[in-house]
Amino acid sequence: MRFHVMTLFPDMIDTVAGTSIIGRAAEGGFIEVISYNIRDFSLDRHKSTDDYPYGGGAGMVMSCQPVFDTYEYIMGKIGRADVPCIYLTPAAKVFNQDKAMSLSSYHDLILLCGHYEGVDERVLEEIVTDYVSIGDYVLTGGELAALVLIDSISRMVDGVLTNEESAMDESFGEGGLLEYPQYTRPYEWRGRKVPDILLSGHHANVDAWRHEKSVERTRERRPDLFKGFNR
Ligand code: ADE
Repeated sequence: MRFHVMTLFPDMIDTVAGTSIIGRAAEGGFIEVISYNIRDFSLDRHKSTDDYPYGGGAGMVMSCQPVFDTYEYIMGKIGRADVPCIYLTPAAKVFNQDKAMSLSSYHDLILLCGHYEGVDERVLEEIVTDYVSIGDYVLTGGELAALVLIDSISRMVDGVLTNEESAMDESFGEGGLLEYPQYTRPYEWRGRKVPDILLSGHHANVDAWRHEKSVERTRERRPDLFKGFNR
C-alpha cells in the first residue's frame, strides 16, 4: 500500500514514517510513504504557497495552484483515476477503527495536509474525495493527523505486523471492547502483585478473566462504546 502525502513539512512525515514498525514495514516493502513538498510545485517566483483571505480575517490561506499541481503530479505517477484524496481537517467526521479498515483496502491513498487558516475551498472541491478529522481539537497542521491515519491503516496491511504483534486481541479488535490489562515480571512491584489467575496456567479461566476485565474497563472508561456492545 502506498501513502502519498501532500505537505509543506515533508521532514515531519519522513521522520516519523521512517521509525519503528512503520519504518520497518516500509523497508520490508509492505507499505510506502511518499511525501511531496507543495512548495516545490509553486509557480510563484518566491515559491509562496499562501495568500491573504478574501473577506479579511486573521491568517493565510493556502493557494489553489501549488496544491493542485502537486495533486496532478501524484495522479500522473499513479496512473489511475479511482484514488481517494483525503483532506485532514478538524471540520469533518472523526476517524475511527472502521474507517481505518475501509481505507486499508486501497492500493494508493493521497493525504492533503493543510496549514495556516486552511486551503482555498475551490481546490478542495476539485480534488478531495473525503474529509477526515482525528479528534475534536485543533492541531497546527494536518501532518500529525496524516501520520495517525498512516499508522493505524498500515497495521492492517498484510505483513506489517508480525504474528506476535497481531491486532486481534487489542482494543477495538473483535468484539469492540477495550484491551484487558497486561502484566510482566516481576511478580511483585511496589507491593502490587500480578493477579494469581494469570499464573494458573488454566487458559480458559485466563480468557474468561480477560474478557471480564475488557467488559469492566469499557463500561467504566467508554460508556459510549459500552452501550453498543452486545454481551
Ligand atoms: N488539522 C488540524 N486539526 C486537525 C484535526 N483535529 N484532525 C485532522 N486534521 C487537523
